[in-house]
Amino acid sequence: MIIAANLKTNLTRKQTSEYVDELEDFLNKNKISQEILVFPAPSSLNTHSGKVTIGTQNAYAAANGAFTGEIGQDHLDEFCVKTILIGHSERRHVLGETQEELVKKFNYYKEQGFKIVYCIGEPLEVREAGNETMMKYISAQYEGIDTDYKNLIIAYEPVWAIGTGLTPTLQEIETIHKELKKKSSAPLLYGGSVKITNANDVLALKSVDGILVGSAALNVKNFCSMCEYAQNIENKKIKENI
Ligand code: PGA
Repeated sequence: MIIAANLKTNLTRKQTSEYVDELEDFLNKNKISQEILVFPAPSSLNTHSGKVTIGTQNAYAAANGAFTGEIGQDHLDEFCVKTILIGHSERRHVLGETQEELVKKFNYYKEQGFKIVYCIGEPLEVREAGNETMMKYISAQYEGIDTDYKNLIIAYEPVWAIGTGLTPTLQEIETIHKELKKKSSAPLLYGGSVKITNANDVLALKSVDGILVGSAALNVKNFCSMCEYAQNIENKKIKENI
């Protein structure tokens, strides 16, 4: 399973380094072999080797150039970062990134062989407009995206669930994930108000391959527990198959 922490605009470089060290220590002590991704703020990126993979929350679709305020691939290469989050709802809705811009970014980092966590998800009014409208909206977020890319991970994150404490029901997550699995065989994460209280149930869903966690991941102990939940679920699956 894939357990990812989106630290957003939180934690300085020093705090991030302490966070990653504590996480790394936990993963080693508890023999956790799941795929663990951490996305720090761009100025908190640093070289890291261990079980945790560090990814960037954003980067411009260029190695370098005149793009004030952005970082490029050169800045990622400095810290050996080869994983990127693209299409997060805050980039789409707060920072106004269009599908066209996201596709450009996707293609650039695909070309460089990056692991891409590509986020999709609908705002509340779209969900309330019914299933057909919702699926049409989500399908448009797949436009221009190579869904067969081998280093692709998709994260379904309903916009209305992000940072709000609201989540779809487990049944709703399962239903939409099943639908989305028809569009791509890439691992599919759920994100949006995953907490220590619901992480285990979400991870146990058949069509969920992992979680992308925001606010609850800021507490490293909580995030460690979520990694442990995933490990226990995988261990159980292995036992049942023997
Ligand atoms: P949240 O954020 O867990 O705080 O809802 C998730 C995300 O934005 O990836």
